[in-house]
Amino acid sequence: MNDLTVANVGNDRFNRDHERLLFYVQEFTRLCTRFRLRTPFPDEWDQMDAIFVRLEKYTRVHFKEEERAMEGFAYPALSDHREQHQHLVNVLADLKVKIKNREFQAIGTVKQFLIEWLTHHINHTDTQYSPYLQKGHAASAVHQSH
Ligand SMILES: [Fe+2]
Ligand SMILES: [Fe+2]
Repeated sequence: MNDLTVANVGNDRFNRDHERLLFYVQEFTRLCTRFRLRTPFPDEWDQMDAIFVRLEKYTRVHFKEEERAMEGFAYPALSDHREQHQHLVNVLADLKVKIKNREFQAIGTVKQFLIEWLTHHINHTDTQYSPYLQKGHAASAVHQSH
């Protein structure tokens, strides 16, 4: 699990977002892994708070940007895609409560889900908008040249 790679979705910005999201999830997971063996030290909770804030915020920003792009090219699978995003947002909201309450065992059970959800979503759901996104870009490029 150290070398996670995800598919190219045909857009530099979204590819960079995905790398960054995976980085945050991996950092979060790395911290959680230690908690299988013992209760976290206070400074580890601080690290977890810091990484979680970034993960949650960046996820929201990325999802919003993707949804805006999909709206822009009238993507047919938008509502399903949006539902998947909302599911993760809900999971993160639950996780936020667990972190706030310092429930380290409950947090540990979520970490694997995060990696699996994110890689699966990028590789199987985000990649589906790729041809539309490229077509949309081509159309706007043609439009701008006139
Ligand atoms: Fe994405
Ligand atoms: Fe997505």
